[in-house]
Amino acid sequence: MLVIDRVEGSPARSRPVYCAPGTMAGHLMTQLKEIHRFLACATPEPWLEWALANPSILLIDHANCEKKAASTALNMIYRYIDRGDLLNRMSRLAREELRHFEQVLALMMARDVDYVHVSPSRYAGSLRQHIRTHEPARLVDMLVVGAFIEARSCERFAALAPLLDEELQTFYLSLLKSESRHYLDYLELARKYADEELEPRIALFRQVEGELIESVDEEFRFHSGVPA
Ligand SMILES: [Fe+2]
Ligand SMILES: [Fe+2]
Repeated sequence: MLVIDRVEGSPARSRPVYCAPGTMAGHLMTQLKEIHRFLACATPEPWLEWALANPSILLIDHANCEKKAASTALNMIYRYIDRGDLLNRMSRLAREELRHFEQVLALMMARDVDYVHVSPSRYAGSLRQHIRTHEPARLVDMLVVGAFIEARSCERFAALAPLLDEELQTFYLSLLKSESRHYLDYLELARKYADEELEPRIALFRQVEGELIESVDEEFRFHSGVPA
Protein backbone atom coordinates (compact mmCIF):
# COMPACT_ATOMS: atom_id res chain seq x y z
CA MET A 1 0.00 0.00 0.00
CA LEU A 2 1.18 3.44 -0.81
CA VAL A 3 0.40 6.93 0.37
CA ILE A 4 0.03 8.74 -2.91
CA ASP A 5 -1.06 12.17 -1.86
CA ARG A 6 -2.85 14.27 0.65
CA VAL A 7 -6.00 16.16 -0.22
CA GLU A 8 -5.38 19.70 0.90
CA GLY A 9 -7.90 21.88 2.68
CA SER A 10 -9.55 21.53 6.07
CA PRO A 11 -7.97 19.20 8.66
CA ALA A 12 -10.42 16.45 7.65
CA ARG A 13 -9.33 16.89 4.05
CA SER A 14 -5.67 16.49 4.84
CA ARG A 15 -6.10 12.79 5.60
CA PRO A 16 -3.72 10.70 3.54
CA VAL A 17 -5.26 8.93 0.57
CA TYR A 18 -3.89 5.42 0.14
CA CYS A 19 -3.94 3.16 -2.84
CA ALA A 20 -2.41 -0.06 -4.00
CA PRO A 21 0.41 0.64 -6.44
CA GLY A 22 -0.89 1.21 -9.93
CA THR A 23 -4.58 1.38 -9.02
CA MET A 24 -4.98 5.14 -9.03
CA ALA A 25 -3.42 7.27 -11.71
CA GLY A 26 -2.41 10.87 -11.18
CA HIS A 27 -5.44 12.14 -13.08
CA LEU A 28 -7.68 10.40 -10.58
CA MET A 29 -5.99 12.26 -7.75
CA THR A 30 -6.63 15.47 -9.67
CA GLN A 31 -10.29 14.52 -10.01
CA LEU A 32 -10.50 13.80 -6.29
CA LYS A 33 -9.12 17.25 -5.55
CA GLU A 34 -11.68 18.76 -7.90
CA ILE A 35 -14.42 16.84 -6.11
CA HIS A 36 -13.24 18.26 -2.77
CA ARG A 37 -13.46 21.74 -4.25
CA PHE A 38 -16.94 21.01 -5.59
CA LEU A 39 -18.27 19.87 -2.21
CA ALA A 40 -18.91 22.29 0.66
CA CYS A 41 -17.16 20.11 3.23
CA ALA A 42 -15.24 16.90 3.74
CA THR A 43 -16.84 13.94 5.51
CA PRO A 44 -16.60 14.64 9.26
CA GLU A 45 -14.48 12.23 11.34
CA PRO A 46 -17.47 11.20 13.55
CA TRP A 47 -19.22 9.82 10.48
CA LEU A 48 -16.16 7.69 9.66
CA GLU A 49 -16.20 6.29 13.21
CA TRP A 50 -19.94 5.65 12.84
CA ALA A 51 -19.30 3.75 9.60
CA LEU A 52 -16.63 1.55 11.19
CA ALA A 53 -19.05 0.68 14.01
CA ASN A 54 -21.76 -0.37 11.47
CA PRO A 55 -20.02 -2.58 8.88
CA SER A 56 -23.16 -4.54 7.90
CA ILE A 57 -25.35 -1.46 7.40
CA LEU A 58 -22.51 0.17 5.46
CA LEU A 59 -22.60 -2.71 2.95
CA ILE A 60 -26.40 -3.04 2.84
CA ASP A 61 -26.98 0.69 2.37
CA HIS A 62 -24.18 0.81 -0.18
CA ALA A 63 -25.94 -1.93 -2.15
CA ASN A 64 -29.17 0.09 -1.93
CA CYS A 65 -27.39 3.23 -3.16
CA GLU A 66 -25.99 1.42 -6.22
CA LYS A 67 -29.43 0.00 -6.99
CA LYS A 68 -31.04 3.44 -6.61
CA ALA A 69 -28.36 5.08 -8.78
CA ALA A 70 -29.11 2.61 -11.58
CA SER A 71 -32.84 3.15 -11.26
CA THR A 72 -32.50 6.97 -11.30
CA ALA A 73 -30.45 6.75 -14.51
CA LEU A 74 -33.04 4.43 -16.07
CA ASN A 75 -35.87 6.80 -15.15
CA MET A 76 -34.04 9.61 -16.95
CA ILE A 77 -33.67 7.38 -20.01
CA TYR A 78 -37.45 6.91 -20.05
CA ARG A 79 -38.27 10.57 -19.50
CA TYR A 80 -35.76 12.36 -21.75
CA ILE A 81 -35.79 10.33 -24.98
CA ASP A 82 -34.98 13.44 -27.07
CA ARG A 83 -31.58 14.00 -25.39
CA GLY A 84 -29.14 11.74 -27.21
CA ASP A 85 -26.07 12.51 -25.09
CA LEU A 86 -28.04 11.89 -21.88
CA LEU A 87 -29.38 8.57 -23.20
CA ASN A 88 -25.91 7.26 -23.96
CA ARG A 89 -24.28 8.42 -20.74
CA MET A 90 -27.15 7.31 -18.47
CA SER A 91 -27.34 3.90 -20.14
CA ARG A 92 -23.65 3.31 -19.48
CA LEU A 93 -23.97 4.71 -15.96
CA ALA A 94 -26.93 2.43 -15.14
CA ARG A 95 -24.96 -0.61 -16.29
CA GLU A 96 -21.98 0.39 -14.17
CA GLU A 97 -24.14 0.97 -11.09
CA LEU A 98 -25.74 -2.46 -11.47
CA ARG A 99 -22.28 -3.98 -11.79
CA HIS A 100 -21.32 -2.23 -8.55
CA PHE A 101 -24.52 -3.58 -6.99
CA GLU A 102 -23.47 -7.12 -7.94
CA GLN A 103 -20.01 -6.53 -6.48
CA VAL A 104 -21.44 -5.33 -3.14
CA LEU A 105 -23.84 -8.30 -3.10
CA ALA A 106 -20.91 -10.69 -3.58
CA LEU A 107 -19.05 -9.08 -0.69
CA MET A 108 -22.15 -9.31 1.51
CA MET A 109 -22.58 -13.00 0.72
CA ALA A 110 -18.91 -13.73 1.37
CA ARG A 111 -19.22 -12.00 4.74
CA ASP A 112 -22.57 -13.58 5.71
CA VAL A 113 -24.29 -10.20 5.78
CA ASP A 114 -28.05 -10.75 5.38
CA TYR A 115 -29.70 -8.37 2.93
CA VAL A 116 -32.36 -7.05 5.30
CA HIS A 117 -34.53 -4.01 4.66
CA VAL A 118 -32.78 -0.76 5.55
CA SER A 119 -34.74 2.47 5.19
CA PRO A 120 -33.23 5.13 2.93
CA SER A 121 -31.44 8.06 4.52
CA ARG A 122 -32.90 11.57 4.40
CA TYR A 123 -30.08 12.64 2.04
CA ALA A 124 -31.35 12.13 -1.53
CA GLY A 125 -34.95 13.00 -0.63
CA SER A 126 -33.88 16.25 1.04
CA LEU A 127 -31.79 17.24 -1.98
CA ARG A 128 -34.65 16.44 -4.36
CA GLN A 129 -37.03 18.70 -2.42
CA HIS A 130 -35.22 21.62 -4.09
CA ILE A 131 -35.65 20.36 -7.66
CA ARG A 132 -37.85 22.70 -9.67
CA THR A 133 -40.90 21.27 -11.42
CA HIS A 134 -40.80 22.95 -14.86
CA GLU A 135 -38.55 21.90 -17.74
CA PRO A 136 -35.70 22.19 -18.52
CA ALA A 137 -35.10 23.41 -14.95
CA ARG A 138 -36.23 20.05 -13.55
CA LEU A 139 -33.77 18.15 -15.73
CA VAL A 140 -30.92 20.55 -14.90
CA ASP A 141 -31.58 20.32 -11.14
CA MET A 142 -31.79 16.52 -11.29
CA LEU A 143 -28.42 16.46 -13.05
CA VAL A 144 -26.86 18.81 -10.47
CA VAL A 145 -28.22 16.65 -7.65
CA GLY A 146 -26.78 13.60 -9.43
CA ALA A 147 -23.40 15.32 -9.58
CA PHE A 148 -23.45 16.01 -5.82
CA ILE A 149 -24.49 12.45 -4.92
CA GLU A 150 -21.74 10.99 -7.09
CA ALA A 151 -19.17 13.48 -5.78
CA ARG A 152 -20.03 12.70 -2.15
CA SER A 153 -19.93 8.96 -2.81
CA CYS A 154 -16.51 9.33 -4.37
CA GLU A 155 -15.26 11.47 -1.47
CA ARG A 156 -16.57 8.96 1.09
CA PHE A 157 -15.01 5.95 -0.68
CA ALA A 158 -11.67 7.74 -0.62
CA ALA A 159 -12.03 8.72 3.05
CA LEU A 160 -13.14 5.23 4.15
CA ALA A 161 -10.70 3.15 2.11
CA PRO A 162 -7.60 3.60 4.32
CA LEU A 163 -9.64 2.57 7.38
CA LEU A 164 -11.01 -0.70 6.00
CA ASP A 165 -9.68 -4.24 5.52
CA GLU A 166 -7.68 -4.93 2.39
CA GLU A 167 -10.54 -6.44 0.38
CA LEU A 168 -12.93 -3.55 1.01
CA GLN A 169 -10.15 -1.03 0.57
CA THR A 170 -9.32 -2.41 -2.88
CA PHE A 171 -13.01 -2.45 -3.80
CA TYR A 172 -13.69 1.12 -2.68
CA LEU A 173 -10.63 2.44 -4.46
CA SER A 174 -11.77 0.65 -7.61
CA LEU A 175 -15.10 2.49 -7.36
CA LEU A 176 -13.44 5.91 -7.19
CA LYS A 177 -12.69 5.94 -10.89
CA SER A 178 -16.23 5.25 -12.09
CA GLU A 179 -17.95 7.42 -9.48
CA SER A 180 -15.74 10.39 -10.32
CA ARG A 181 -16.59 9.88 -14.00
CA HIS A 182 -20.29 9.75 -13.09
CA TYR A 183 -19.87 13.06 -11.26
CA LEU A 184 -18.40 14.58 -14.42
CA ASP A 185 -21.11 13.04 -16.63
CA TYR A 186 -23.86 14.61 -14.54
CA LEU A 187 -22.14 17.99 -14.34
CA GLU A 188 -21.34 18.14 -18.06
CA LEU A 189 -24.93 17.20 -18.96
CA ALA A 190 -26.26 19.89 -16.58
CA ARG A 191 -24.06 22.51 -18.28
CA LYS A 192 -25.13 21.29 -21.71
CA TYR A 193 -28.87 21.42 -21.08
CA ALA A 194 -29.05 24.51 -18.86
CA ASP A 195 -30.60 27.60 -20.47
CA GLU A 196 -29.47 29.74 -17.52
CA GLU A 197 -26.40 30.35 -15.38
CA LEU A 198 -25.67 27.06 -13.67
CA GLU A 199 -23.57 28.42 -10.79
CA PRO A 200 -26.52 29.62 -8.63
CA ARG A 201 -28.07 26.14 -8.81
CA ILE A 202 -24.74 24.50 -7.94
CA ALA A 203 -24.32 26.95 -5.04
CA LEU A 204 -27.81 26.16 -3.70
CA PHE A 205 -27.34 22.39 -3.79
CA ARG A 206 -23.80 22.73 -2.41
CA GLN A 207 -25.16 24.49 0.67
CA VAL A 208 -28.05 22.03 1.16
CA GLU A 209 -25.75 19.02 0.68
CA GLY A 210 -23.15 20.37 3.09
CA GLU A 211 -25.78 20.93 5.77
CA LEU A 212 -27.04 17.36 5.38
CA ILE A 213 -23.51 16.01 5.77
CA GLU A 214 -22.51 18.15 8.75
CA SER A 215 -25.75 18.08 10.76
CA VAL A 216 -26.90 15.42 13.23
CA ASP A 217 -28.73 12.47 11.71
CA GLU A 218 -30.85 9.81 13.39
CA GLU A 219 -29.44 6.67 11.79
CA PHE A 220 -26.20 5.66 10.16
CA ARG A 221 -26.34 5.40 6.39
CA PHE A 222 -23.81 5.78 3.57
CA HIS A 223 -24.96 9.37 2.98
CA SER A 224 -26.04 10.22 6.53
CA GLY A 225 -25.02 13.20 8.62
CA VAL A 226 -23.16 12.81 11.89
CA PRO A 227 -24.21 10.96 15.06
CA ALA A 228 -25.69 12.97 17.94
FE1 LIG B 1 -21.70 3.08 -8.20
FE1 LIG C 1 -22.11 6.32 -9.58
